[in-house]
Amino acid sequence: MTAVTPLRGAVGTAHTRIEGRDKVTGAARYAGELPFAELAHGWLVLSTVARGHIRSVEDGAVLELPGVLAVLHHGNAPRVETDYSGLMGMRPDPSVALFQHDRVPCAGWPVALVVAETSEQAREAAEALEVRYDEEPHDVGLRTGHPGTYTPADAPHAPAVTAKGDLEAELARSTVVLEAEYSTPEEHHNSMEPHAATARWEGGRLEVVDSNQGAVWVRNELANLFSLDPGSVRVLSEHVGGGFGSKGVRAHQVAAVMAATLLQRPVRVVLTRRQMFSLVGYRSPTAQRVRLGADADGRLRVLEHQALSQSSTVYEFLEPSAAPGRVLYDAVAHRTAHELVRLDVPTPTFMRAPGEAPGSFALESAIDELAEKCGIDPIELRARNLPEAGPVSGLPYAGRGLLTCFREGARRFGWADRDPRPGLRREGHWLLGTGTAAATFPAGAVPSTAAITAQADGTYTVRITAADIGTGARTALTLIAADALHVGTDRVHVLIGDSDFGPAMMAGGSMGTSSWGRAIIAAADALRERLALTDGVLPEGIPPEGITERSDTTAALAARPPKERHSYGAQFAEVAVDVSTGEVRVRRMLGIFAAGRIINPLTARAQFTGGMVWGISMALHEEAVRDRASGGLVGNDLAGYHIAAHADVPALEADWVDDPDPDDPAGIKGIGEIGIVGAAAAIANAVHHATGVRHRRLPIRPDRVL
Ligand code: MOS
Repeated sequence: MTAVTPLRGAVGTAHTRIEGRDKVTGAARYAGELPFAELAHGWLVLSTVARGHIRSVEDGAVLELPGVLAVLHHGNAPRVETDYSGLMGMRPDPSVALFQHDRVPCAGWPVALVVAETSEQAREAAEALEVRYDEEPHDVGLRTGHPGTYTPADAPHAPAVTAKGDLEAELARSTVVLEAEYSTPEEHHNSMEPHAATARWEGGRLEVVDSNQGAVWVRNELANLFSLDPGSVRVLSEHVGGGFGSKGVRAHQVAAVMAATLLQRPVRVVLTRRQMFSLVGYRSPTAQRVRLGADADGRLRVLEHQALSQSSTVYEFLEPSAAPGRVLYDAVAHRTAHELVRLDVPTPTFMRAPGEAPGSFALESAIDELAEKCGIDPIELRARNLPEAGPVSGLPYAGRGLLTCFREGARRFGWADRDPRPGLRREGHWLLGTGTAAATFPAGAVPSTAAITAQADGTYTVRITAADIGTGARTALTLIAADALHVGTDRVHVLIGDSDFGPAMMAGGSMGTSSWGRAIIAAADALRERLALTDGVLPEGIPPEGITERSDTTAALAARPPKERHSYGAQFAEVAVDVSTGEVRVRRMLGIFAAGRIINPLTARAQFTGGMVWGISMALHEEAVRDRASGGLVGNDLAGYHIAAHADVPALEADWVDDPDPDDPAGIKGIGEIGIVGAAAAIANAVHHATGVRHRRLPIRPDRVL
């Protein structure tokens, strides 16, 4: 078993972001603003029809406009390779194979790139470019019973369907039965910094300065698409203003590479906020059905969770909303199932807590409904149904802190005083209520490499292809490295966001810090051993280039015992519902998490509360409305797409219980996504407690409350 590294003072101590000053003073430069000589600017043109073929791209007039250098489209673009397996064996989404054919599979599909001397000239020409289409009928409406519904193939380690026991027989034996349908709308991650890339050929290598969640990942995808040796491609992403799952390989990098290759000069492509609504993925809408059957004491005989989501006609992406049921509760008969419908829409993608975010809304609302029907406190009902081993896998849990979170949260939230009867508390025109829900998200690590160089001046430089997408990853890794090297943080310099640093996990799946931390600790251990270091004091005679040790965690991770590895949390919310307007105000929220050892309490708290704020958004505001007639989105900007603003966010508290992972050298589990999980259910359950009405359809808009 891995020994968990003892605390030496850096890990566990609040530390402001190392690059924080650079960020707030503007010294930190992002991909869309780094200066390049001879820079040209590309502007994407997106389809205005939802299905059909491009009849013509009328580029003649546009090529005469001032500053225009080129118009790329399906008639003249270079061919790219799409027959390969990329990250986790996944095939590339043809959405990034730009301009390869005349078919239009959705509204907002990239049909051309206009390149000009300035961004303004490119934009003007792009808006003037006439594209003619042969339009075909389209279907953008996800609904239960859609004739195109099918069960997708199993993903590695994630079967589409799991089943044990006899559902109907156990339902017949159940004293209390609940069957309910829940739905969540299409939701969008629209990071503060839009996607942006600058590509250029430099010294025989392709260099792409980009905003992404993993420079090696994007490098590999670009090398595959353009049939280049990965060593001849370098991707740099020093600062990233948000990602949330959307910042992998996207149209902007591919467009920039095509144009830079054609023009043999640097080309920058920046997405507009409106373009992000169709080019960078989103969370599929879901239609979910939960069936629960229980004995009178609340013990589950039946847990069935079925979830329908959508994908595009060009690529299969599944939002695995039935996943939380595979972790949280066991039952005599247990079934989780995913279904898909392929529609004329952009391909959805990973969006913070893919699966768990919408899935927990349905499951944790249903558990609350069941508790009410049984006349049992919802926390107590959950406590009675905690599995000893994975309900599907049968594997032991690597720590399961759910009940600890509920107990601590209940104490701090004042749950014991709660009268469970709904609709009783009134304050003027407000009805008040409280609710709770469980949170869970998988913990894990992916093989990564790191290098640490000891320098003659007594400092250490860590190089790792990590990404800091605003989470504070760079700072967390500095704390981990300092403790692993037995020195203060002032002697450690962590460099990230450069694919030349070698293979490493991207910032995703809540696995970044664990994956990278393990690699850094392994390199630090090797360095301390090689130099016989005690307390980080370097011996005499370190050469000018320093002494470097490298690590690769592939073997160590393969040797880890198979277990159910998850972070947990308990979400609590208090709401007030205006009986005259239907408005729901969240008055306070508390989240208590068991999510492994917390590396940097300052940024960890921000991660948790950031997720909880998103949960408020999900519960009350977010809803991308797809227009059936045009197939496009209504209000595809941050004015029309409603998110929680400061005034919507009340007293918000997040804290954690000690829960180091026994199989991770730093005790890490992962905190990136769990903050949003269960948050919407806690709010919906509180709305029920306030009003006596169940809302099974998100968002809980005023017009739906009245
Ligand atoms: Mo996350 S949705 O894996 O960036």
